[in-house]
Amino acid sequence: MRAVATDELAGALARIVGAAHVLADPSLRAPYETDWTRRFSGSARLVVRPAGTAEVAAVVDACREAGAALVPQGGNTGLVGGGVPRHGEVLLSTTRLGGLGSVDPLAAQVTVGAGATLAAVQAHAAPHGLDVGVDLGARDSATIGGMVATNAGGVHVLRHGSMRARVAGVEAVLAGGQVLSHLAGLRKDNTGFDLAGLLTGSEGVLGVVTRVRLQLVPRPARRVVALLGMPGLDAALRTAVALRDGVPSVEALEFMDAASMALVRSHAGLAAPVPGEHPVFLLVACGAADDPLPALTAALAEPLSAAVGTERADRAALWAYRERVTEAVGAAGVPHKLDVTLPLPALPAFADEVRRTISDVAPGARALLWGHLGDGNVHVNVLDLDPDDDRVDDAVLRLVIRRGGSISAEHGIGVAKTRWLPLSRTPEELAAMRAIKNALDPCGLLNPGVLLPAGA
Ligand code: FAD
Ligand code: MLT
Ligand code: ZN
Repeated sequence: MRAVATDELAGALARIVGAAHVLADPSLRAPYETDWTRRFSGSARLVVRPAGTAEVAAVVDACREAGAALVPQGGNTGLVGGGVPRHGEVLLSTTRLGGLGSVDPLAAQVTVGAGATLAAVQAHAAPHGLDVGVDLGARDSATIGGMVATNAGGVHVLRHGSMRARVAGVEAVLAGGQVLSHLAGLRKDNTGFDLAGLLTGSEGVLGVVTRVRLQLVPRPARRVVALLGMPGLDAALRTAVALRDGVPSVEALEFMDAASMALVRSHAGLAAPVPGEHPVFLLVACGAADDPLPALTAALAEPLSAAVGTERADRAALWAYRERVTEAVGAAGVPHKLDVTLPLPALPAFADEVRRTISDVAPGARALLWGHLGDGNVHVNVLDLDPDDDRVDDAVLRLVIRRGGSISAEHGIGVAKTRWLPLSRTPEELAAMRAIKNALDPCGLLNPGVLLPAGA
């Protein structure tokens, strides 16, 4: 690689994507340079916005020849700092790769551009009675390419799995400029390595995803949401497991602790969802072809403090308590976000222990716990802590490992957790990952510093 002046590189990129899509001015670059949490930021040498796979490949070639590393970015809703520049890289935005192919109702599949937002694909599939099968609060901005790159989870994992389970094929540009394209979407296709599976969850370090073939799921005609006040996480977990095993229409089992509920209520000006004080709230969502309410009501036989919504607006009002927690936390400060999974039996004791750990390590800090209870996925968020002080992160992630969990459930490693990746992966696994990275990107062009710790 030869080092090239930024003006010369900008000219080469402008010849590929058009001058309007190479951003050099700091005020134009700024929205791409800080992540959603505001904890991670850096300056980009340039921002480039290619419009198709051929342009992405040409941009990658031009950057490689210029010795300029690249950071891929979709909707910039990632929460671990992997999609923003760190050391003057070129930022490759996929926002112009938003094409939507026609829905194949027989296969229940569609091919979409990596820059298509989740909400756009949901709206595209809905008239066919189909849905993406992955849903998350950032749906209006998060892109399908970003969701593949992070193997996004969300609220329907319980029913339909994470993004990897929805990916029927991927097209991607490798660091050498080669285009890998495997988009036929055949249900059975045992012809060697699952490269789409490898790219899913690779956080932009192995290739730039340009198109995705999605396996869609039936869109439930009827839905119901219930928000329950619970006496503790133990009780919430027991109820959640009974619903998971006894009510086939269950789509989501989510929880919030009292601190998260109080914060979202004061931020969004929401009334108490149910009467009384409760240490934990359980949100249950069901979806089916027929009305799921009778089975849900029968399963919740004991008297509970509950609010139920069947109409779209009522359901959305109940979801707001859960979905707006992230926004409420962001408005309250710059959080340390620790997205972890625990084995289900370990969850209630972990919740108590993690609060104690946080207050021991950082006595003034505020801990909030919420997440995807059915998956054992807790979002431990810590406010009123110096963004650069990672003692709490260290203590919490080590506790997670002692309790048999994973340091990242769904957000990925990014730059936020590279230091702790060896807690969750063996040296042999890390060496295999590094070997794959070196084979596909020997110059370290794509997303340097993300996912793999230096020297792993
Ligand atoms: P970005 O933030 O732009 O990028 C994320 C990572 O993917 C970066 O490492 C980037 O380099 C890489 N990348 C992006 N596009 C590509 C591409 N085309 N090719 C290769 N690499 C690429 N996440 C969950 O899993 N579950 C949730 O429930 C959830 N809820 C959220 C709610 C809110 C309010 C917010 C703000 C975020 C939430 N997230 C959740 C996190 C986030 O939405 C997901 O990680 C999402 O998948 C990121 O998509 P994006 O397009 O914004 O990616
Ligand atoms: C959530 O489930 O709320 C998201 O993953 C976002 C977050 O952790 O803030
Ligand atoms: Zn989540």
